[in-house]
Amino acid sequence: MDITSKAEAPVQAAVIGLGNIGLLYDIPLKAQPQSHSLAYHLHPKIDLVAAVGVRQEQGDTLALVAPRTEFYLDLVAMLRNHRLDIISICTPSDVRFDLLKTVLENSSARVIFLEKPVATSIHEAEKIAALAQSYNRTLLVNLSRRWSDGVVQIREAVRTEQYGKLKKIHLRYTRGIFNYGSHLFDLVRFVSGSIDQVRVIEQVPTNLDAREDWTYSFLFSLASGGIAGYAEAFDDRDFLIFEMDLYFEQGKIEMLNSGDKIRYYATEAHPMLAGIKSLVLEHQEDNLLHQSSNIQNAVDHLVDVLTKGAKPISTLEDGIYPLYVAEALMKSHRNNGSVEKVRNNKNSGDGRAL
Ligand SMILES: NC(=O)c1ccc[n+]([C@@H]2O[C@H](COP(=O)([O-])OP(=O)(O)OC[C@H]3O[C@@H](n4cnc5c(N)ncnc54)[C@H](O)[C@@H]3O)[C@@H](O)[C@H]2O)c1
Repeated sequence: MDITSKAEAPVQAAVIGLGNIGLLYDIPLKAQPQSHSLAYHLHPKIDLVAAVGVRQEQGDTLALVAPRTEFYLDLVAMLRNHRLDIISICTPSDVRFDLLKTVLENSSARVIFLEKPVATSIHEAEKIAALAQSYNRTLLVNLSRRWSDGVVQIREAVRTEQYGKLKKIHLRYTRGIFNYGSHLFDLVRFVSGSIDQVRVIEQVPTNLDAREDWTYSFLFSLASGGIAGYAEAFDDRDFLIFEMDLYFEQGKIEMLNSGDKIRYYATEAHPMLAGIKSLVLEHQEDNLLHQSSNIQNAVDHLVDVLTKGAKPISTLEDGIYPLYVAEALMKSHRNNGSVEKVRNNKNSGDGRAL
């Protein structure tokens, strides 16, 4: 795919790591961009000037999507040859600290967009935070639900108490507390507040066991408002699942199919039982993930952060928080289902006081 020249494009971007989220989710092309490379390439204010991979074939694949982008096998050469404004890091989480250090030392890019999970351990994540602090750059983490229009609507419904106060949360997920877990724990925090305590009920096998990313069913409570939750783990060898139900005083919101469908329920008088209410479907949103692309929304936001000084929606601290939840879960599992407190990072990141 080629697009017309962006002679006036003020922002120069590069991608490190041309796997699924870096590039391959867009091979073949989907209705909306799904990868960092295509989202940059299509953005009217961005030139995707360079990308780095580990095999020449990755460059050949990149050329199918962005033929004018320069492909490198040498990261330092790429960083030195271009005046970059935004750099995406799309490598696996075990290739993070050294790579980020190389990026910060060899480029003056002001915005770094880091894939989740931030690191494979809290120790490494904290080293990354210390490193980032010593450079005057903005680091954002791709907690992708934060850029979903549907999730932003849910957050607003919670904030405005559209259905009264939030009382309970049910989650259904699979594929590990680090992999899908980073999104899930952040989703809860973003829409309703930080998870404060957890208690593991059982471990459920998934494909991610091979990477020692365990998947647990667990009870939890939020830091604010006495809100209780239950997260049920499923085996991804049966099917993928990523769902959330929010129960309010006067209604319910269901987020289904990873956020592609959202159902809003209000209450009305029960037809037969005096003084009792039933849930009734008020409205439903479908095809949300097809109507708007999270990665495209994220890239719009990066441009606003860079050019307008917009406040980052997803900070490094937000990216580290899910690792603290994972830590508490592993401790609870080791201690046969003990109640464990989640270590709190400094910034609530959810727009609410804790
Ligand atoms: N935010 C999201 O919704 C989302 C979705 C998918 C993946 N991810 C995250 O993105 C990261 C990558 O996942 P993926 O599925 O794309 O993995 P992947 O294995 O498909 O791709 C990673 C790529 O990085 C390359 N790589 C490794 N070391 C490198 C280096 N030093 N320099 C350049 N390239 C290097 C590999 O060759 C590979 O092509 C993971 O942390 C994953 O959790 C996030």
